[in-house]
Amino acid sequence: MKLVFQFGSQPELSRAELLSRFPKLANGRLVAARFYIVDCDESPEWLLQQLGGVVKILEVVDGISQKPDEMIVHLADHILKQTIEKPKVVFGVSIINAPEFKGAGLAIKRAIQELSDRSVRFVVSRDPELSSATVTLEGLIAPRGVEITFLKDSSQIIAAQTAAIQAFDEWSFRDYGRPGRDAKRGMLPPKLAKIMINLALGTAEPEKMAIYDPFCGSGTVLTEAALMGFGRVFGSDILKQAVDDSKESLVWAKKQFGLDDTEFDVFKHDASQSAQHVKPASIDFVASEPFLGRPLKKGEQLSPVEKQQLVSLYNKTIRALDGVIKPGGRLVFSFPFQVAPRELLPLHEIIADTNFTVDPLLPEQKTILYMRADQRTGRQIVRLVRK
Ligand SMILES: C[S@@+](CC[C@H](N)C(=O)[O-])C[C@H]1O[C@@H](n2cnc3c(N)ncnc32)[C@H](O)[C@@H]1O
Repeated sequence: MKLVFQFGSQPELSRAELLSRFPKLANGRLVAARFYIVDCDESPEWLLQQLGGVVKILEVVDGISQKPDEMIVHLADHILKQTIEKPKVVFGVSIINAPEFKGAGLAIKRAIQELSDRSVRFVVSRDPELSSATVTLEGLIAPRGVEITFLKDSSQIIAAQTAAIQAFDEWSFRDYGRPGRDAKRGMLPPKLAKIMINLALGTAEPEKMAIYDPFCGSGTVLTEAALMGFGRVFGSDILKQAVDDSKESLVWAKKQFGLDDTEFDVFKHDASQSAQHVKPASIDFVASEPFLGRPLKKGEQLSPVEKQQLVSLYNKTIRALDGVIKPGGRLVFSFPFQVAPRELLPLHEIIADTNFTVDPLLPEQKTILYMRADQRTGRQIVRLVRK
């Protein structure tokens, strides 16, 4: 079947995550920057659960005519069949880059009424694209209902049905419902933590793997890794309070999500020193958002000396990790960068005199920049591999 992976707000990072975990999906094509169309026979629900950066997975409706009238009738018939178990037909429409389909929802509703005497409700939206919340709350996943997305790929129109959707309420629970959060110390969004873990994990099976976050803060990476089923999860931080918060987060996750098989170890440690606590060559992966520098006031930038101190901390950390990482092990970091004027930290200095090289995240792109509209400091996502 043909699936469409709909990426979230950072589409390049989402694509890198998808292709790291599922390299056999590399021959797909990108449409409208955030829709990736590819042949795939895995279950959409299962795929979606594996990923942090994919918001929806759609299944292309086969064999639709390119003549608009025939397409509408075909889709009306398709929606009727998909919702056959329900007395009422509920459906919605999202229009991505095909404005000529603006009236398609009402046209499909009329066609359904002509084809059947079942009652029908078209979920109207002010925006051309239905939000995840609307799709979930209105139940627009078969057999309860259907969401059809119209996409234009060169000159061809694709109609695809939503097959799986990210559980926005679960993510928000993991972000805001977790104890030990400390926004002042800097919090990594849980979805980004999962993406970073997947960039490190690749095709390996988490159950057999050990992961380490040497700047664990309140434990976002550790919690996500535990939820992904990693066998061993290690974390450390220079602050005792952060160690306690991370432990609390892990106990919470264990209880909330019934994780019994993960082995945890969280301890106080300065990441720039060698980690005596961790056995040599015992760690497969590191995923970490390190200390990003002091919080900045409006209009303020880090001084050149402060930037150099960060470069030196990261370089010492990577050297200290050398002993504990297995050969071939991967480290994924989110390093800070200045958004305006754009200035990245010198990566060659960060990895100077280490046994690590940069492992490109996408064939055409070594590292990926992650930023939100209002942020002065962005994140440069970097993957390193141990020689
Ligand atoms: C950006 S926060 C990490 C946030 C974490 N990823 C989370 O979401 O909770 C950086 C952490 O690095 C810690 N830190 C700063 N310098 C350190 C060092 N030299 N060694 C270890 N931890 C350090 C801080 O205490 C802080 O908890």
